[in-house]
Amino acid sequence: MDIEQHGAFAITPNPAPLSHDARAAQMENPAWGRVFTDHMATLRYSRDKGWHDAKIEALKPLQLHASAVSLHYGVEIFEGLKAYRLPDGGAQLFRPDANARRFANSAKRLVMPELPVDLFVESVRALSQIDRDWIPTADGASLYLRPFMIGTEETFATNPSGAFLYCVAAAPVGAFFSGGAQAIKLWVCEDYTRAAIGGTGETKCGGNYAAGLPAQAEALRQGCNQVIFLDAIERRWVEELGAMNVFFVFDDGTLQTPPLTGTILPGVTRDSIITLARDMGYQVNEAPYAMDQWMADAKSGRLVEAFSCGTAAVVAPISEIKGNNHNFQIGDGTPGAITTRIKTALTDIQFGRAPDPHGWCQRLF
Ligand code: PLP
Ligand code: COI
Repeated sequence: MDIEQHGAFAITPNPAPLSHDARAAQMENPAWGRVFTDHMATLRYSRDKGWHDAKIEALKPLQLHASAVSLHYGVEIFEGLKAYRLPDGGAQLFRPDANARRFANSAKRLVMPELPVDLFVESVRALSQIDRDWIPTADGASLYLRPFMIGTEETFATNPSGAFLYCVAAAPVGAFFSGGAQAIKLWVCEDYTRAAIGGTGETKCGGNYAAGLPAQAEALRQGCNQVIFLDAIERRWVEELGAMNVFFVFDDGTLQTPPLTGTILPGVTRDSIITLARDMGYQVNEAPYAMDQWMADAKSGRLVEAFSCGTAAVVAPISEIKGNNHNFQIGDGTPGAITTRIKTALTDIQFGRAPDPHGWCQRLF
């Protein structure tokens, strides 16, 4: 079997990749995150060897000892970023270095080894390149890359792990919300909180999502797409959604988003939107916003638009809020002009339809 090298990664191509036709059939409108490419990247860490055994090979199930600490104590972190098809047939990554830095911060929080930024970026580059035919060409579709790391030390003891597996898998994706919803409905969660100061709110670890599942289940039962989490102390301030950050747009043309106080995820999309909106001349305030104020402002007309944002969901206008104490519509329920303008500016850069003034994109081929 041919083994070639891509930087640190030894590549053993999948001996039985999907045929062109089978791949095309799978990529035709795939359910979000349920269709996977032919390969995966892996890298191991141990106390004595450091990072070693960097490989790209056929995607396959992982083998773990039944005592592996990730299975018991949630020693897991992950990232999400995308490869975008360009108008000339090439492809690029959007801000992979930002995801790499956040991954290193998440690692530090869970006493996991920090993967150097260059190795992180190289792993996603190498996988996107070998699976280049999986980068969709359909409008708005992209290849979602999922780097993650788990503790693999074999012990029931709860001390920090000494052995880790880093892995990247990839999935061609289109619309994030079921039915391709253009504007989303949110459920205000008042029973559960997502994170408190000193916790793991700003860490991209699986445990945050597991703990949020009852709230997401309730949101789905209520006919909503996502949960709005409130702060853990006063249950008053809007934090973020289950898998996205949130922005508010006012009738004076200013934008607002909750500040990074340690309890919310510092979204790469959030940061990019703040920069792009300011480039366009909008004032953007990073300031707390109370749930009651949001309802009052929507009803009075002071708040004219609201949208959520994240790598997976891109920019999703919010049409309606439901909750035990909050029921209201945003604007006339249709995507707002400023939301649409910001979404267009962001996606034009990601898909290479507009210049990249901040040097965010990294070309793959
Ligand atoms: N907040 C949460 C809880 C998320 O899971 C995500 C998705 O990654 C985001 C915000 C948005 O982050 P990003 O824009 O980096 O994808
Ligand atoms: C992303 O936007 O990349 C996310 O992580 C959302 C995911 C949890 C589905």
